[in-house]
Amino acid sequence: MNKRGLAAKTQNEMKLSFPSLSVNEGIARSAVAAFCAQLNPTIDELADIKCAVSEAVTNCIVHAYRDCIGVITLDLRVCEGGWLKIEIKDKGCGIPDVAAAREPLYTTDPGGERSGMGFVVMESFTDRMRVKSKVGAGTTVTLFKRLDGRG
Ligand SMILES: Nc1ncnc2c1ncn2[C@@H]1O[C@H](COP(=O)(O)OP(=O)(O)OP(=O)(O)O)[C@@H](O)[C@H]1O
Ligand SMILES: [Mg+2]
Repeated sequence: MNKRGLAAKTQNEMKLSFPSLSVNEGIARSAVAAFCAQLNPTIDELADIKCAVSEAVTNCIVHAYRDCIGVITLDLRVCEGGWLKIEIKDKGCGIPDVAAAREPLYTTDPGGERSGMGFVVMESFTDRMRVKSKVGAGTTVTLFKRLDGRG
């Protein structure tokens, strides 16, 4: 992804905020799909975006707010040049080592139910992924995807 995509001017924006209940994962996924419809994504692009968002929101639910219910915020933007920017933010436990967490198969799940592939999926299904985190303060994942604007 080039610098233009990162700095591109916002053309449309929507914010959503909801508690970290698992029922809200599917709702968030559908809301993002509805928002990015204005960029005329292909079925494949839409599936990739929904999957990436689903991974990020699930991480907020199961990791950030492991023992509690907290607030998850989505900031959705359409930017100049057909860039979709999706920010998923929590104020949960934070990630001590972001570089390690982004590695394939890295998981802190004690039960062995998780595969440690969420960040890998988010990164491979988008053009760029940015992760900022502070222990005790929370995590912000930003996903950038360029839709070629067939419409
Ligand atoms: N929002 C978050 N808050 C706190 N920790 C997180 C957050 N997102 C990810 N992590 C940490 O990063 C690790 C890697 O996340 P990733 O999504 O790649 O794998 P996973 O959630 O463990 O497994 P999978 O996504 O395959 O079910 C997690 O195990 C967790 O320790
Ligand atoms: Mg995950």
